[in-house]
Amino acid sequence: MAVRRLHPDQPPSFAFSPENLAWAKETIAKYPPGKEASAVLPVLWRAQEQNDGWLPEPAIRYVAEMLGMAYIRVYEVATFYTMFQLAPVGKKAHVQVCGTTPCMLRGAEDLIKVCKSKINHEPHHLSADGDFSWEEVECLGSCANAPMVQIFKDTYEDLTPELFEKLLEGFAKGNPPKPGSMIGRTASCPEGGLTSLTDPALFDGSGIGAWKKRFAETTGAAPDAKAPAASAPATPAAVPAAPVTKENLAAEAASGAVAAARGTAAGKRPKE
Ligand code: FES
Repeated sequence: MAVRRLHPDQPPSFAFSPENLAWAKETIAKYPPGKEASAVLPVLWRAQEQNDGWLPEPAIRYVAEMLGMAYIRVYEVATFYTMFQLAPVGKKAHVQVCGTTPCMLRGAEDLIKVCKSKINHEPHHLSADGDFSWEEVECLGSCANAPMVQIFKDTYEDLTPELFEKLLEGFAKGNPPKPGSMIGRTASCPEGGLTSLTDPALFDGSGIGAWKKRFAETTGAAPDAKAPAASAPATPAAVPAAPVTKENLAAEAASGAVAAARGTAAGKRPKE
């Protein structure tokens, strides 16, 4: 990645247009008093948009004064993030080529060769007609679709040198392709189609309750058999039989006589 420095040729001053000034005041008012500095990114971005896609030094100073921030703080933000351009950019496209490891392994260097031959040998320099410029940047978050480039706010992914040249031609003609994967995959879905979670029944609701059938198949239980209620009382333990003695037999006979007198069989609960 190139060192990020302010461009040697700077305009004498910068001020927001009335519309952008009104927008900036509204944006700053979204933050609590004393926290105006939180608006630095959107306000710098709007300044860049007003200035044909790059951020001149007077704009950095202007934003610092507007937000009550030290100039160095805003300068640090502007020179740190590659979303801010510090030199004039192509009118039709400024190409940011991701050169971080996944993109590099998948051919980012070939895309840079295209930039050098089609735009300018040096990054941050305009093409002969002033329509294009390019630079190498760090990861832009589309690693699964490497290699990729970002042009203004959009990303173009799954590129080959040939597809990239076509992309540049589209921008030159004012007819760029739809952003995203250049080989037609949706987001970062697998290139050869889905390989997992392919059963439609997973998503149509028909699987609801299917566990009962599986349960019956694996346990041998009837499919509609109800599982025992968790609160059902456990079977009482068998009472150990009393030893057969004369006394016990007499006591049992007496107990049966009492039960008979009450109209019940001995040892059985009456029906309720
Ligand atoms: S490495 Fe290129 S987008 Fe992440």
